[in-house]
Amino acid sequence: MVKNKYIAIALDGAAGSGKSTTAQAICKKYKYIHVDTGLHYRAISLYLLNLNISPDSASLYLSSTPLHLTSELDKFSVKLRIDGIRYSKAELRNESMNRKVSFYARLPEVRTLLLKYQRSLPDFGKNHGFSGIIMDGRDIGSVVMPDADIKIFLHADLQLRQDRRLADGENDSITSRDQMDSTRKVAPLTCPDGALSIDTGILPIDKVVQLVSHKIASFS
Ligand code: CDP
Repeated sequence: MVKNKYIAIALDGAAGSGKSTTAQAICKKYKYIHVDTGLHYRAISLYLLNLNISPDSASLYLSSTPLHLTSELDKFSVKLRIDGIRYSKAELRNESMNRKVSFYARLPEVRTLLLKYQRSLPDFGKNHGFSGIIMDGRDIGSVVMPDADIKIFLHADLQLRQDRRLADGENDSITSRDQMDSTRKVAPLTCPDGALSIDTGILPIDKVVQLVSHKIASFS
């Protein structure tokens, strides 16, 4: 038992598996800070798209041009600024970005840049007085925070995940993103070793939160 330990939770899963809903519920309950790493990949992709840099030329661009990544706190979420630019949710979450993001996310130069940044975020949360961090994405338990105190992997049936996106009013290329994200060479989407795997098609959100809460309780 470790009292007042700063808890790091790695939350992984495919599109529409319930990561954001789970992360937000846990952050509200425990006053943790939330990092949505998908937004980082979306932001880098948009930054490059706005410069007319295609995925084919992005690696060369990034190896010769350093980008300045900084963090901003928005309630309990960390928002990324790239060279001072912060994109809105509407700019990052739309059909066009859903279609393009995985082409940039599979590039080693993009992942290396974000990995260094993402690994600085547990300290950012600590320094801002939070009692823990929940970071969600595709490679958090496997690559970004392999020593996380708690690892959770969410999954659900493809049709259900597609229906969730439509219900949110988002057209999403889930099948092709799933394919690209889980077959890429660097940091593919995977259920990390030691993760608690939860089917959110079977368990409702309050039960998912309960399972994560049990894990958190073992630290207090
Ligand atoms: O919200 P949703 O799960 O649909 O997607 P997201 O979390 O916003 O992630 C968008 C894309 O970023 C994914 O399809 C991946 O290509 C990429 N991504 C990644 O490669 N690694 C992460 N840790 C998070 C996202």
